Amino acid sequence: MPAATVVEVQNLVKRYGDVVAVDNISLKVKKGKILSFLGPNGAGKTTTVEILECLRSPSSGIATVLGLDVSNSSDQQKIRQRIGVLPQSFNTFGLLTVKENIEYFISMFGFRKQTDADSLIRLVDLEDKKDAHYRTLSGGLKQRVGIAIALVNDPEVIFLDEPTSGLDPKARRGVWSVINGLRDSGKTVFLTTHYMEEAEALADSVIIINNGKIVAEGPSSELIVIHGGARSIVLKEPGDSIVKAIRAWNSNTWFDGNSIKITMNDGSDVAKIVDLAQEYEFDLSNMDITKPNLEDVFLRLTGRTITEDGGTR
Ligand SMILES: Nc1ncnc2c1ncn2[C@@H]1O[C@H](COP(=O)(O)OP(=O)(O)OP(=O)(O)O)[C@@H](O)[C@H]1O
Ligand SMILES: [Mg+2]
Repeated sequence: MPAATVVEVQNLVKRYGDVVAVDNISLKVKKGKILSFLGPNGAGKTTTVEILECLRSPSSGIATVLGLDVSNSSDQQKIRQRIGVLPQSFNTFGLLTVKENIEYFISMFGFRKQTDADSLIRLVDLEDKKDAHYRTLSGGLKQRVGIAIALVNDPEVIFLDEPTSGLDPKARRGVWSVINGLRDSGKTVFLTTHYMEEAEALADSVIIINNGKIVAEGPSSELIVIHGGARSIVLKEPGDSIVKAIRAWNSNTWFDGNSIKITMNDGSDVAKIVDLAQEYEFDLSNMDITKPNLEDVFLRLTGRTITEDGGTR
């Protein structure tokens, strides 16, 4: 039997005055899957998730969560009881410990199932820190407290809005393993992110949103095959003269100031680059051949790339 649809959106629009933050999007998320909703700053990610969380109302279109209508006030109450939310820029009581924070939210919202703080602490791998004051934790550990709090009502769907924003790569991986654990326990996860690597690493399927519109969707491996293009030759820290020579020879290049990327047509391109490297004394140990990734997908679809801080260039 195919998995049930847990989140469904049809022709959803949200306007703020003249700004169309969400521009006629449709999507589905199946039970037990992780969806990465990937897009740069201002793409419309938070607006979409907050509509699904019944925090904002749509301008038009339909959105259902667990078969319940986000625009219907009696359904809203039921949706809130069955979902978990980690808001963007999550924060909680700094002077309470990890365990006290979680216990507080259990006493407020843990009405669906008798959840206990210790098992949530174990789930997010914070046993060592359970008696530490929240304000003393690193960013990655704070986010894990946020995920534990999002789980106090044993939700069926969890919305995580940029759960690893601003974290260093190691802390990010720690949060990823917690998110993978959620999928393993059968939860459905709706994750927003501007990190391509995160979308690729975690999600069963990815939706790319830009300027309020969905520009691509599917498993990341499929998106890469369909939209990613060919392999590329990458030269790290090339000198100005070789960059100029490469551009004169091949217009299909991308230079970000640190490295130049040349989309390959065929194997003879490698020979050409090796020749140029000799001519311009470029050290070939700084050359790589890379497969396309989600970054290439976004670049080919929008002509831009998402930067570390979520902007585009
Ligand atoms: N309450 C609001 N009033 C007016 N405009 C808003 C409001 N909230 C969001 N917007 C605008 O709607 C657009 C989408 O914003 P949204 O916060 O949904 O994007 P986002 O993808 O979550 O971005 P970020 O990565 O920065 O969190 C932006 O142009 C934003 O300025
Ligand atoms: Mg946002």
